[in-house]
Amino acid sequence: MNQKHHIVFFTGAGISQESGIETFRDTNGLWHNNKIEDIASKEGFEKKPQKVLDFYNERRIKVEKVQPNLAHELIASLEDRYKVSVITQNVDDLHERAGSSNVLHLHGELNKCRSSKDASFIYPCTKPIQVGDLAEDASQLRPHIVWFGEEVTEIEKAIEITQTADLFIIIGTSMVVQPAGSLLLSVPVDAQTVYIDTNPDVEEGINLLVLKEKATDGMKQLVEDYLPY
Ligand code: OAD
Repeated sequence: MNQKHHIVFFTGAGISQESGIETFRDTNGLWHNNKIEDIASKEGFEKKPQKVLDFYNERRIKVEKVQPNLAHELIASLEDRYKVSVITQNVDDLHERAGSSNVLHLHGELNKCRSSKDASFIYPCTKPIQVGDLAEDASQLRPHIVWFGEEVTEIEKAIEITQTADLFIIIGTSMVVQPAGSLLLSVPVDAQTVYIDTNPDVEEGINLLVLKEKATDGMKQLVEDYLPY
């Protein structure tokens, strides 16, 4: 690996777990304590808008209080030596706060809100969103989050980035949500893939190294053993 090589990270909730953010599908994860259709769908929002707004308002406050962890920091530090892209399913901003400069959010961003009619009216979210807060098109403001049943508009960009990877590193995702989970299919055949997860549900293969580790330990090991200074 040298400076011209492109390392693409594909991250999920597991990378932020050690910062204190719950994952979705682990025991006590967000989808164990909340019904997806109530909280993460347009229909749920139409039925109980303030309940949905409060769910994301609380999560936004929580994210503001936590810090990026060593896994986020090591990813950012690799920019000194390689071309690095981060594709994340996470809606927190911990990659950016750790210093990553090239982050693509597939499922939206908690610190932004948008019009509920026109997805192109996006604003920074500086305070909790309430029913009655309006966008410039007079529609109710909603979190800038991709809900189930909605289009993942950034997936094409993510595929293009993945197609140019020399090293593809997956961290802390169950890979079950589509289309994100299929991104692996776009990794070039001659690229190496590494999967770091506490509970990886895949078999190791010629081009696939599996590290059954927490994100921080897995990233430390990866940098020491495979990407040393
Ligand atoms: P999941 O909750 O489905 O999966 C989390 C993964 O992280 C699991 O594979 C865990 O084994 C692993 N994990 C847990 N703690 C870890 C740690 N400390 N270090 C490393 N791995 C750890 O979360 P995602 O795959 O991110 O979408 O979920 C994908 C999407 O489903 C989310 O973006 C969200 C959700 O519904 C939307 O809200 C649109």
